[in-house]
Amino acid sequence: MQEEKKNIGNLFDRIAKHYDLLNHLLSFNIDKLWRKKAIKRLTPCDELLDVATGTGDFALEILKQDKAAHITGIDLSKEMLAVGKEKIKKAQEEKRIQLQQEDCASLSLADESFDALTCAFGVRNFAFLDKGLSEMYRVLKPKSKIIILEFSYPKNFLIKAVYNFYFTSVLPLVGKIISKDRQAYSYLPKSVKNFPQREDFLQHLQKAGFRNTGFQSLTFGICTIYYGEKI
Ligand SMILES: C[S@@+](CC[C@H](N)C(=O)[O-])C[C@H]1O[C@@H](n2cnc3c(N)ncnc32)[C@H](O)[C@@H]1O
Repeated sequence: MQEEKKNIGNLFDRIAKHYDLLNHLLSFNIDKLWRKKAIKRLTPCDELLDVATGTGDFALEILKQDKAAHITGIDLSKEMLAVGKEKIKKAQEEKRIQLQQEDCASLSLADESFDALTCAFGVRNFAFLDKGLSEMYRVLKPKSKIIILEFSYPKNFLIKAVYNFYFTSVLPLVGKIISKDRQAYSYLPKSVKNFPQREDFLQHLQKAGFRNTGFQSLTFGICTIYYGEKI
């Protein structure tokens, strides 16, 4: 798993062109609802940093909900960013969203330069989770919010059985057929299973310095919104 994470930029480079289609298809579009719910927790701000912005869906939705005047989106994958840049151009939002290639484990951004920070389905992929979270903390101004959206493992026995079947059998197969990449979509269930869940993830947020942390479970716990503040 750790080896795969070290090459995570490559993995997303390979699937970038199919990412949006597969994302919405495989989640039956529920991901759009999850994103909207997470963004509702933000209060409007000037400068927002969207970490692991990928193809820019989360950043574009933040603008739609008028939650930021300007967004900087960073991601490891050049190809994901290239797809994102096209979408931002099409939406005529180039002045309000600026994308740059960065590793969250060592951001080139200045201390205390953002009023809010978001990260959707990104932290699970970090090769160095705690380093990434402390970098997020460093670039935020005091009294700023962090909102993280991430897959999680359902608790209910029945839901877990359905989820396991879908995530380990259906999803890797459909992902492989469409993206033609065998590894990418078998990585997804493994990465969710191995990632700290709910209270355990809050401990990582607190270790990085965040306070007033909490989480909200969505859709039987398949997805979780985590939140906190740099006070
Ligand atoms: C599942 S995608 C999520 C993209 C987007 N936020 C969304 O909601 O669709 C995960 C993204 O995390 C990025 N990523 C993984 N590790 C990263 C790191 N250390 N720094 C920056 N981005 C990273 C990947 O390149 C990929 O684009």
